[in-house]
Amino acid sequence: MKLSVLATIITLATAQWYPLGRDGEIPLAISPYTVGEEVLIDCIARNIDNGEHKFDDQERIIYSSFPICKETGKPLSFKYGISEDKNCTIGFTDQLYHLFQLYIHEDVPFSCRLPLSKEPNSIEKGGAFIPLTFNFRGEIHDSHLDVDSSLNVLFSKPTSKRPEENTFISAVAFSSGTNATRIVIGDSLTLNLAVRWYDNLANTNSLSKNYQGLLPYADGFYKLPINFVPISYSSFYIIILLVALTAGSLSWILSNFYPKKLKGYKPVDAETGFSKLD
Ligand SMILES: *[C@@H]1O[C@H](CO)[C@@H](O)[C@H](O)[C@H]1NC(C)=O
Ligand SMILES: *[C@@H]1O[C@H](CO)[C@@H](O)[C@H](O)[C@H]1NC(C)=O
Repeated sequence: MKLSVLATIITLATAQWYPLGRDGEIPLAISPYTVGEEVLIDCIARNIDNGEHKFDDQERIIYSSFPICKETGKPLSFKYGISEDKNCTIGFTDQLYHLFQLYIHEDVPFSCRLPLSKEPNSIEKGGAFIPLTFNFRGEIHDSHLDVDSSLNVLFSKPTSKRPEENTFISAVAFSSGTNATRIVIGDSLTLNLAVRWYDNLANTNSLSKNYQGLLPYADGFYKLPINFVPISYSSFYIIILLVALTAGSLSWILSNFYPKKLKGYKPVDAETGFSKLD
């Protein structure tokens, strides 16, 4: 049974599951995150002269932590599954300033990654990860940088109905403000981050209904809806419920209370009588 499903997945698809572990295998043994748990990211370390990757002695790309946020004294992290607005004030060392020149000029991406499994050092142990790129925009000047520091940070995760699948499908962060802040070396910049989680995206074009044990979560294209509801689904359903209750109560009031009141006071008849007299 399982083998035939696997065969179906393989034959229907010249496609390959993404992401794979370092061994090229589908990452099945992930430790899922719990909602609210801290998610740590690390980012590609780059040479400030040309933006080239730094490599270790095994020719592996070196990752280092995101710059320290002054608010927490720790590198930027996220709360799994929690949409929130947060600030992270970073200091522009000489090195970070030169890296931002490369990021804003789009010579190199500001690439970070999210471990699929919450197990400590899972990526170092060969575990799969999801990229999270910070697309900062701005302008480069001879003496300073203008940086748009207002960013939307979007995560998509498998449906919240299966806690054992609490991991990532995709993530991206991009500047979306109209205010650029002028930066020189030594300055601090507060990043205003609007962190949003999509936990209920339908996976279209899924090949396998029976994926459990074969894939970390259901395959498919986790598409944003065409009629975009820019709030979390739980808030959306609460609003729908409130609207239904309000509409229901209003129509109850109109149908029960209002006509009785009208019957009680009959000004229409009196006026009609008066006009007849007239
Ligand atoms: C972020 O910082 C601004 C001031 O720079 C403040 O008004 C806002 O409340 C802060 N937001 C959060 C979520 O802490
Ligand atoms: C843009 O910058 C001005 C001046 O610093 C500030 O008053 C305003 O709140 C900023 N707007 C946004 C959207 O950050």
